[in-house]
Amino acid sequence: MRFSIATSAFLGLASFILISTVQSVPASVLPDGMPNPNKDESKRIELKSQGTLPNGPPPPKVSKEGIVTLQLIAFNELFEIAFFSELLTNVTNKVPGFDIPNAGERDFVLKSLTAILAQEELHALSVNNVLKHAKARPVQPCKYTFPVSNYTEAISLAATFTDLVLGTLQDAVERFALGSDSSLARLITAVVGQEGEQEGWYRTQQRRIPSQLPFLTTSDLNFAFTAVQSFIIPGSCPNIRDIPLKTFQPLTILTPPTTKTQNITVSWKPDPTIKEPEKLSLTYINQQNLPVSVPLRIKSMANVVVAEGVFPYNENILNGLTIAVVTTGGGSFPNVDAVAKATVFGPNLIIVN
Ligand SMILES: *[C@@H]1O[C@H](CO)[C@@H](O)[C@H](O)[C@H]1NC(C)=O
Ligand SMILES: *[C@@H]1O[C@H](CO)[C@@H](O)[C@H](O)[C@H]1NC(C)=O
Ligand SMILES: *[C@@H]1O[C@H](CO)[C@@H](O)[C@H](O)[C@H]1NC(C)=O
Repeated sequence: MRFSIATSAFLGLASFILISTVQSVPASVLPDGMPNPNKDESKRIELKSQGTLPNGPPPPKVSKEGIVTLQLIAFNELFEIAFFSELLTNVTNKVPGFDIPNAGERDFVLKSLTAILAQEELHALSVNNVLKHAKARPVQPCKYTFPVSNYTEAISLAATFTDLVLGTLQDAVERFALGSDSSLARLITAVVGQEGEQEGWYRTQQRRIPSQLPFLTTSDLNFAFTAVQSFIIPGSCPNIRDIPLKTFQPLTILTPPTTKTQNITVSWKPDPTIKEPEKLSLTYINQQNLPVSVPLRIKSMANVVVAEGVFPYNENILNGLTIAVVTTGGGSFPNVDAVAKATVFGPNLIIVN
């Protein structure tokens, strides 16, 4: 049974952020003149990406909600650029833990990461271009730091955040539909497929089958907004306040589950605004199914609250990405949107198989 190392990356995020404010973490600078490449830099990015930016005109207008969705996508793409740029540098320089001994394999990894980085750069540019054209401020990069110390961990983290992106872009397309932003649906679904190709490669590198589920797990913009912030050096984002999404408090999974129904232990920092913690639920989102909520039993309440709840793997075949959050008001949520509205801690990301 395998667990995403990235799960622990997300787990450690609260303490990690604290550490990174104290130490002076070297800030990653985006490559290729991003997010404002000049003509030559843009050309070089396109050549490395094996393709081009869409050359048609951006949509004439975008709904207010559509703007928020584009901001979140740009916010996420900029973080991915920082990640893949750093990973490519680590592999190129044979940084300890990132040396791939087999020359043929190393060459293939370098070629793949070079293309992925450039493709992510074009994703970010395309979305920021739409924002500019719609008279909204383009999203600026932050300073990032990543909790990975070797190639295996890096690929596992890439697989985890790409999984979350694949769920989040489903929410993006639904929001475009609700806002009558039909001209954005095609652009974003072109990106969904592209990220799915990446995910298949990250999975095969972990000796997992490339296609994880019949219907990929859905998510919510607010969950992605929260998750990306775990890699951001606090206070380093020039215009994060432009993005009107929610940031939830961290949820840790102390005992990540395996392929069977079992109790798992989770924890969070006590929040005085939550009056009846014993009434909180653990809610799971997997595939295109109705969210599953289970009661939490509080085990201890000191510096952290530790609670236990069942992970109902057998009943629900919880393979692939499962998004776990702690919600108020358990019971039956009709969809992920309702879950996000009731979320207090999370998301934490579980990947089984
Ligand atoms: C790159 O390597 C450094 C040094 O080991 C490490 O701290 C950082 O997390 C790595 N970043 C990525 C994205 O691989
Ligand atoms: C990568 O780093 C993690 C955490 O330090 C460690 O548990 C794991 O064994 C390392 N993996 C490899 C392949 O070096
Ligand atoms: C989970 O813990 C509860 C309470 O201790 C117990 O009744 C239940 O059988 C456990 N469930 C599983 C699947 O182990």
